[in-house]
Amino acid sequence: MPIDLAIVPVAGHGTRLLPSTKSQPKEMLPVGRKPVVQYVVEELASSGMRRILFVTGPGKTSIENHFDINVELISVLRETGKEELLEELEFERKDLQYFYTRQRRQLGLGHAVLCARPLAGHEPVVVALGDSIIGLNAQSDIVRRMTDEFERADADAVIAFETVPREDVVHYGIAKPRSPLTPSPSPPEGRGEKSSVGEVFVLDDLIEKPAVAEAPSNLAVAARYVFKPAIFDLLAQTPPGKGGEIQLTDAIRLMIQMGGRVLGIQLPASERRFDIGNFESYFQAFVEFALADSRYGPALRDFLRSHLANETADARR
Ligand code: UTP
Repeated sequence: MPIDLAIVPVAGHGTRLLPSTKSQPKEMLPVGRKPVVQYVVEELASSGMRRILFVTGPGKTSIENHFDINVELISVLRETGKEELLEELEFERKDLQYFYTRQRRQLGLGHAVLCARPLAGHEPVVVALGDSIIGLNAQSDIVRRMTDEFERADADAVIAFETVPREDVVHYGIAKPRSPLTPSPSPPEGRGEKSSVGEVFVLDDLIEKPAVAEAPSNLAVAARYVFKPAIFDLLAQTPPGKGGEIQLTDAIRLMIQMGGRVLGIQLPASERRFDIGNFESYFQAFVEFALADSRYGPALRDFLRSHLANETADARR
C-alpha cells in the first residue's frame, strides 16, 4: 500500500515569533497570499498524501477552521456577486481527509510525533513540519521522492537535508553522512524533468546544533521525514533532552545506533526550505513569495527598486 499518511506537528509555542504568535499559530502566518500550513498541505497532497494528521495544541483552532468547508462564507460570496473569489477557496475541496489530535503539553517535536501514534497505527508515515515550506510556492515533490526511496531501499527512515552555510550549522541537526555521498538512482520514467533529484546517502549519525569546528557536514535537517512505525517505540524510549523536550533527532540517533537503515536525501537548490520559525527567514520568505506573485509581484519589484534606490541616494547625501 502506498504511503499516504502525513503527520503535521503544529503545536509549538512559536516563541521566536512573538508577539505575532501570542494569539495565533505561526503556521497560519501569511507568506505571500496563503498561510504557511496551506502550502505544506498542498505540497503533501501533490506528493500523494491523502490523510493529514495535525498534532495541534492551545490556540491552534484556526488551523482546523482553515481546512473546513466554510458554507456560510461561500454563500456570502455568491450572494454578494463575488463568485470570482470562490477559486481562492478551492483548496478546501482537495481529496484529503483531516485528523486532529492534541499535544497537551509542549514537550518537543519528538513528543508531538509520539502523540500521533494511536491514530497512525502500524504503518509508515511522513512527518512534515507545519512551519516550513519546501520550494517556492511549495513546488516540490521531495516527499514523493523520499517515499519512493524509502520503499526502494527498504529503509527505516528517510530524511530531507539542505546545505547551509558552514557558520549556520550551529542552528540545525547536522548529518554525518557515510562518505563518499553516493549519487541517487536515476529518477523513474515520466519524471525526467526532475534531474535535480537530490543525492541519497546513508546517515551514520545526526548531530544536534554542533559547533562549526565539529560539524561533520553542512547538511541540515530540512523539515520532511519518512519513518517506519518503529519510530514510535524509539520515541517512547527517548529521554527528554535539551530544554526537557523529547527530541525527534534523539530518536533517529537511537534508530541508527540500533542498526536501522537511515537515509538522507539532499534537497536540490531549486527546492529550498523556507523556515517560518524566525523573523529573519520569515521576512525573506515573504518577500520572495510576494515577488514571485504573478499579479502583485511586478509592482512590488518596482516599489522595492525605487525604495532601495532612494535609500541609497539618501545615504550618499
Ligand atoms: P520549533 O522547533 O520551531 O518549536 O517547531 P516552536 O516551539 O514551534 O518554536 P519556538 O522555538 O518556540 O520559536 C518546529 C515544528 O514543530 C512543532 C511546531 O509547531 C513547528 O511546526 N512543535 C514543536 C510541536 O508540534 N510541538 C512541540 O512541542 C514543539
